[in-house]
Amino acid sequence: ADTATMNKIGIIGSGLIGKSWAMLFACSGYDVMLYDVISDQLQSALVDIEAQLSALYKEGLQRSSLTLAEVKGHICTTTILEECVTGAIYIQECVPENRDLKRDVWRQIDDVITPDDVVFATSTSAIVPSLLSDHLKKRHRFMVAHPANPPLLNPMVELVPAPWTEPAAVERARALMEVIGQVPIVLNKEIDGFVQARIQAAIIHVAWQLVSEDYVDVESLETAMSEGLGGWYAFMGPFDVKHINANGFVDSNKKYGAMVEQVQKTFPKPELMQGPAAEKLTRDLEQWTPSNRLADRCRWRDRRMSALLQLKRKLDEE
Ligand code: NAI
Repeated sequence: ADTATMNKIGIIGSGLIGKSWAMLFACSGYDVMLYDVISDQLQSALVDIEAQLSALYKEGLQRSSLTLAEVKGHICTTTILEECVTGAIYIQECVPENRDLKRDVWRQIDDVITPDDVVFATSTSAIVPSLLSDHLKKRHRFMVAHPANPPLLNPMVELVPAPWTEPAAVERARALMEVIGQVPIVLNKEIDGFVQARIQAAIIHVAWQLVSEDYVDVESLETAMSEGLGGWYAFMGPFDVKHINANGFVDSNKKYGAMVEQVQKTFPKPELMQGPAAEKLTRDLEQWTPSNRLADRCRWRDRRMSALLQLKRKLDEE
C-alpha cells in the first residue's frame, strides 16, 4: 500500500462528533474520508470544520504544526460507504445514538473487504459494544472509542472492548489515539455508562438529592464543584486525592472510611429528575444562562477548557 492509503481514516457520519474526529485526525496529518448519507450535511460539515479550525488558529489554540489549509487538505468527503471504508486503517462510526441504525451501518461496513488489522470503533455514548457487534464477521476488531465533549478540548477517549475484541485491536486503537494527542483509557470489560458517564451519573444522583430536597441552592451546588472538587479533579482522580489528603490511602481509609460509608448509606434510590423540583431547577438555570444564550456559554466554557489544557501541558513539561 502507498503512504496515502496507510494514512487513511474512515469516518462514518459527519455530525458534531464525526466533525471532531475528522479535525483530530487531520490535524495529525492523517487523510480523513468523511462519509454521510446526506450530501448537504457533508457540505455544511466542511464549512463548519473550517469555521471551527479558523477560530482555533486565530486564538493560537490549534494543536497541530500544520497550517489551516494543510489540515483542510487532509479532509475529503463521500456519500459512498464503500469508498470511505476501503483502504482505511481505522474506522470511526459517528451516526446517531440508535442501536438498530448502528447495527445496520456496521453490518454494511463489515461487508466491505478490509485488511485484518483495521480497527472498527464506534463513538456510542451509552451502548455496550457487545450489543453493537455480535452479528459481525469481524467482531474481534470492534470496540467503543468514546470521546468526551468537546473532543478537541477534552482529550480523554474511553476504549471499551466487547468480550470478543482482540487485545491487539485495542492496542492499535490506543496507539493511534496517542499519536493524535488524545488520552485513551482502556476498560478491561464493558459496563453501562463506561467510566466517565458512570461517575457523572453518580455525581448527578447526589447533586439532585441535595437540590431537590432543598439542602442547598443550585448556585451553591455548582460552586462546590467549580471552586472546590473541580480544582483537584482537573489534575488527579478520587483515589489519588484520598491517598495524599491523609498519610496514604490506608490511613485515609482508617480515618474516613466509616464516614464515607455512613454518607453513602444516606444516598436515595435513583429517580427521574422531574416534578416541581425539576421545574425550579430549570428556572434557576434559565436565570443563569437563558436558553437563547447557550452558544455563548459554550464558548465561555471552551475558552476556559482550552486555557486549562494548555496550562496542564505546560506544567507537565516542567
Ligand atoms: P449528530 O446527530 O450531530 O450526527 C450524526 C450524523 O450521522 C449526521 O450527520 C447524520 O446525517 C449522519 N447519519 C445518519 N444516518 C447515517 C448513516 N446511516 N450513515 C452515515 N451517516 C449517517 O450526532 P453526534 O452528536 O455527532 O453523535 C454521534 C455519535 O457520537 C452518537 O453515537 C453519540 O452518542 C456519540 N457521542 C456524542 C457526544 C455528544 O456530546 N454529542 C459525545 C460523545 C459521543
